[in-house]
Amino acid sequence: MTTAPASFVKGLEGIVAAQTEMSFIDGVEGVLEYVGIAIGDLAKHSTFEETVYLLWNKRLPKKQELEAFTKELRANYALPDGMLDRIRTVPKQAEPMHMLRTMVSALAMHDESPNDNSVEAAREKSLKILGCTPAIVAAFDRHRRGLDPVAPDAGLGFSANFLYMLNGEKPTDAMTRAFDICMITHADHGLNNSTFTARVVISTLSDMYSAMTAAIGSLRGPLHGGANEGVMKMLNEIPTVADAEKYVMDKLAKKDRIMGFGHRVYKAKDPRAAELMTLAEQLARDTGNMDLYEKSHAIELVMEREVASKGIYPNVDFYSATTYHCIGLKLDLFTPMFALSRIAGWAGHVIEQLDGNRLFRPKAEYVGPHAVAYTPIDKR
Ligand code: ACO
Repeated sequence: MTTAPASFVKGLEGIVAAQTEMSFIDGVEGVLEYVGIAIGDLAKHSTFEETVYLLWNKRLPKKQELEAFTKELRANYALPDGMLDRIRTVPKQAEPMHMLRTMVSALAMHDESPNDNSVEAAREKSLKILGCTPAIVAAFDRHRRGLDPVAPDAGLGFSANFLYMLNGEKPTDAMTRAFDICMITHADHGLNNSTFTARVVISTLSDMYSAMTAAIGSLRGPLHGGANEGVMKMLNEIPTVADAEKYVMDKLAKKDRIMGFGHRVYKAKDPRAAELMTLAEQLARDTGNMDLYEKSHAIELVMEREVASKGIYPNVDFYSATTYHCIGLKLDLFTPMFALSRIAGWAGHVIEQLDGNRLFRPKAEYVGPHAVAYTPIDKR
């Protein structure tokens, strides 16, 4: 008879399952750093392209290095031939995250060597996937609105190009910067569920596309990246700021979860939420959406009073909902936005995993019966 594993930890809480040089989290102090740089500093001073370079190279680029990297990324903005036809076949009512998962998977079929897991090939594939997924999301959203896709503009940065392909007009500098801050703050976050998923898949020496596809499937869950859509639905359900307190108290009394609150690692306010709160307030003011910001803030105050003692504070998804709404994004594009950015983190982790890979293969504790006699079917 096999013995039970020494310790079973539900949800793998506190288990160290990988090493990374990309992001550091102190959940008690509410600290997040990418390669040692505080997320707040990156949100203030960096760009998404520079942040991706930092994550993938473990240092900030020099000017020429950033220019070369940006050029390479832009060279990958366009979709491979045939992808747009494929997107046109997707039912218009499909959820964008299901569409995105399927299309990222399909990209493998356009790669001449999809199974090459050398570091050089993994970097190329990462650039390809990161570069063209905005075109996938934008083309699908336009398809369901009955509009033709807009070709990418390689003269634009990652964020401006996405908003341009989505809306067919160049975004303002303020909207571009706001979107870029969202991309920076969502790019990587330790061994979160979707990143762990990506690492587990690549640890079989499968391929980058399979790892990304699986990670997208993980991210869409309402307990993970899907929570930002849940936050927006909640804000829409609350008629006015004055109704926020009763709404939250009723939910807590029923032991329902308030989306955008709580985190496995943070027992203090998620530093990304702090950055996005400032951004959301500014954007809400500029776009006439102060009611959304005020409802959010009212919810935060009630939650602080009621459950902060349990270590439940706003997470990254809470204020990103108001931010994305003010940028003009439809509700069901919120989680795909998370994916566009987190591809950077997933790719970096896949490359880290490939470097010194060991297959992930934990054990399950068997808790069923033993030595059970086989009962013939007519005796059961
Ligand atoms: N609202 C109300 N209560 C909560 C919440 C919440 N959002 N989150 C946790 N709690 C309570 C639980 O009910 C539980 O209370 P109890 O001890 O009295 O039973 C306690 O806090 C601990 O909850 P767990 O589920 O054990 O915490 P866990 O670490 O497993 O969960 C999770 C983390 C899944 C993020 C959780 O906080 C949650 O469901 N939040 C809402 C969804 C969400 O916002 N997800 C996004 C997370 S960030 C990201 O993935 C990008």
